[in-house]
Amino acid sequence: MTSKALNVPAVALGTWAWGDSGEAGDGYFGSRLSASGLREVVEKAQSNGFTLWDTALAYGMGRSESVLAQSLSGYDRSEYQLSTKFTPQLAGDGDDPVADMLEQSLNRMGTDYVDLYWIHNPSDVARWTPSLIPLLESGKIKHVGVSNHNMEEIALADRILGEAGFRVEAVQNHYSLLYRGSERAGILEYCREHEVRFFSYMVLEQGALTGRYSPANPLPEGSTRATAYNAILPRLQALTDRMAAIGEDRGASAADVATAWAMAKGTTPIVGVTKANHVDGLLRARGLELADKEIAELEALADTADVDTRGWWEKEM
Ligand SMILES: NC(=O)c1ccc[n+]([C@@H]2O[C@H](COP(=O)([O-])OP(=O)(O)OC[C@H]3O[C@@H](n4cnc5c(N)ncnc54)[C@H](OP(=O)(O)O)[C@@H]3O)[C@@H](O)[C@H]2O)c1
Repeated sequence: MTSKALNVPAVALGTWAWGDSGEAGDGYFGSRLSASGLREVVEKAQSNGFTLWDTALAYGMGRSESVLAQSLSGYDRSEYQLSTKFTPQLAGDGDDPVADMLEQSLNRMGTDYVDLYWIHNPSDVARWTPSLIPLLESGKIKHVGVSNHNMEEIALADRILGEAGFRVEAVQNHYSLLYRGSERAGILEYCREHEVRFFSYMVLEQGALTGRYSPANPLPEGSTRATAYNAILPRLQALTDRMAAIGEDRGASAADVATAWAMAKGTTPIVGVTKANHVDGLLRARGLELADKEIAELEALADTADVDTRGWWEKEM
């Protein structure tokens, strides 16, 4: 049985872009990140109680996990929590590809357990979910969750784990003002009713919802996120302007408002922080309460933008 209830901070930190750093980066984010800059991010986050770090082998083929571990060096393992993933498309051909991928992640991160382990997508729920059970039993993973799963797939994974006395403790899906498929599909409600933590990823739509990027200042040329978002930036202007105005009254930015919105909806945002000042934003977002009227107004503006930001790896919920 799972030993302790899953207990995590109000916001988790995402490190997909960290896999993109330096010479081995794959150009997804087009960010220029340095070891010293990321160390600053870690120090500021850790000292403010943001101690849950989300990564995956898939982020830069191991680079995000390695860079994260280097950036966390010196901290006691009990001071932070690691969240990483089994990605079915990267499975090896050994007898137990889930255990093998986990072992590689543990080696890269210099640890012998992961606090939260995910099946990254539902490519074959019946095949991969059972492999989590021995890893939970051995304590190599403390808690499990499923990502990019729809309602039926979450229920199937939960049944499989339930037969061994475990359960799906967390769900991690794309959820932002612009992309509310999990809400419409009843997944948020299911999570609330079953005390399953819902982690929302890409609440900032990879930078497009921060107000920092605009047609005049687009996402980095040549990056995959530029291809996904630059063409729709003009349609987001009214929304990001309104988020900025709502934030201004409280000394906060448009990005802080986007994060606060995801918290107001009862979810735990995973924010992809790349600079120390992004952590200041999380602190502001944590204390920012949006009125129901503001939430409704922002959602209406998001609907009016009428954009589809579903990632290439996602299915409709
Ligand atoms: N399970 C899955 O399939 C899945 C899929 C996607 C993401 N995720 C997880 O969710 C995390 C978040 O998603 P993401 O990193 O793709 O995108 P995101 O959080 O929507 O956006 C991250 C980008 O927003 C900018 N940013 C972050 N904080 C900011 C702030 N306070 N103010 C202004 N700009 C800010 C940064 O851009 P600049 O660097 O340009 O400043 C950063 O690269 C990932 O890192 C990953 O851990 C999971």
